[in-house]
Amino acid sequence: MAGNSKRIYLIGFMGSGKTSLVKRLANKLGYEWRDIDADIESATEMDIPAIFSEHGEDYFRKLEAQFLRTTGLEENMVVSCGGGTPCFEGNMLWMNENGITIYLEMTPKAIYSRIKDQLETRPLLQKIPEDKLLDHITEMLEQRLPFYEQSQLTISGLTYKLPELVETIKSR
Ligand code: S3P
Repeated sequence: MAGNSKRIYLIGFMGSGKTSLVKRLANKLGYEWRDIDADIESATEMDIPAIFSEHGEDYFRKLEAQFLRTTGLEENMVVSCGGGTPCFEGNMLWMNENGITIYLEMTPKAIYSRIKDQLETRPLLQKIPEDKLLDHITEMLEQRLPFYEQSQLTISGLTYKLPELVETIKSR
C-alpha cells in the first residue's frame, strides 16, 4: 500500500502554507480535502489553543493520531496535517504506509515572518518572546526534520509549481 496516491498527506512546520496548498491541490486533482486541526476543532467544539490549555499537549496528540487514522477510510483525498503530526504516535510511518507524503519545506526565517503576527492560534509559540522566536523556530524545526525528511516528496514552500506537483503525483 506504500505510496498509495489516493491519499495525500501534506506535512510541514506551522506557517509553511499547508492550508492554502491543500485546497489548491485537491481542486487540481479533483479530490476532497481535510484538515486534521479543523476536524479536531469541530468534533470537540473547542479551538486548538483551548484544547492545549484545558487538556494539555498529550491529550491533543492522542486526538490528532486518532483523527489522522480516520483518513485511512477515505480515498481521493488530500489531508493537511498539523506541524507536529509527523512527530508523534508513529504517525509518519502510518502516513507513509497509507498514502503519499509531501513535505512543504520552508526556512526558519520565512516561517518566522509568516507567523509572527498570528501567534494567538499557535499554543506552542504563543508564550515565546518575539526576540527569541526565530531561534525557537530554528531549534524546533531542527528537532522535527528527522520526521519531515521521511516524506516521499519534498517541495519548496516558497517556489513550488502546482502543475509540476500534480504531474509528479499522477505519475506515481
Ligand atoms: C502544531 C501545529 C498546529 C496545531 C497545533 C500544534 C505543532 O498546526 O496542530 O497548534 O505541533 O506544530 P499548524 O501547523 O496548521 O499551525
